[in-house]
Amino acid sequence: MPKVIISPSILSSDFANLGRDIRMVEKAGADWIHVDVMDGHFVPNITIGVPVVKSIRKVTNLPLDVHLMIENPEKFIKPFAEAGANIITFHYEAVERNEIIRLANYIKSFGIQSGLAIKPATKPEEILEYIGAFDMILVMTVEPGFGGQKFISKCAQKLSCFREYGDEDLILQVDGGINDETARVCTKLGANSLVAGSYIFNSENISEAIDSLR
Ligand code: DX5
Ligand code: ZN
Repeated sequence: MPKVIISPSILSSDFANLGRDIRMVEKAGADWIHVDVMDGHFVPNITIGVPVVKSIRKVTNLPLDVHLMIENPEKFIKPFAEAGANIITFHYEAVERNEIIRLANYIKSFGIQSGLAIKPATKPEEILEYIGAFDMILVMTVEPGFGGQKFISKCAQKLSCFREYGDEDLILQVDGGINDETARVCTKLGANSLVAGSYIFNSENISEAIDSLR
């Protein structure tokens, strides 16, 4: 595994040329492809669903990192796993606390990795008891829903708490407002997986942009 995993968010790609854009970031050195799934309920936006994941599975061998920003994520774990997701992350705020461990294990039962995401208002202490059940924790540094928002630096402070508390092999992902400067802040605090949408897809030179995040 690379030291810092770069996961470009296709939310900022050109959806009319999605296959082309995924091949472009793969060629430029991306490690994963981040897929933002929104339902218009958990977040005030709608994006893409299972058929799109099934299609993009055919154009890349990179791991598909599926970030579910939806209510009732359980319903969609199997469809996304069968469509080719390699990592499925759901939101702590979208489920009952007593369902969290079962859902982590349910994701893993498909032979893939499980992630738990937290919104900016959620305190790290709330999820410490669950992190052993997950391969990855996702710290949101913007309110989920839209690309291109400003990085909330106080959210990044949560990373050091998870790095300290989690196992050595815990993947610590950060998502929202990541660019060359904020990436450095996050990796210093212990992040080893960076999601970036607008910074990568709006740049003139995609491989330089990806390199600048490492
Ligand atoms: C926001 C999504 C992000 C988003 C990041 O709800 O989870 O993955 O695409 O976009 P940027 O990198 O532009 O902040
Ligand atoms: Zn995301």
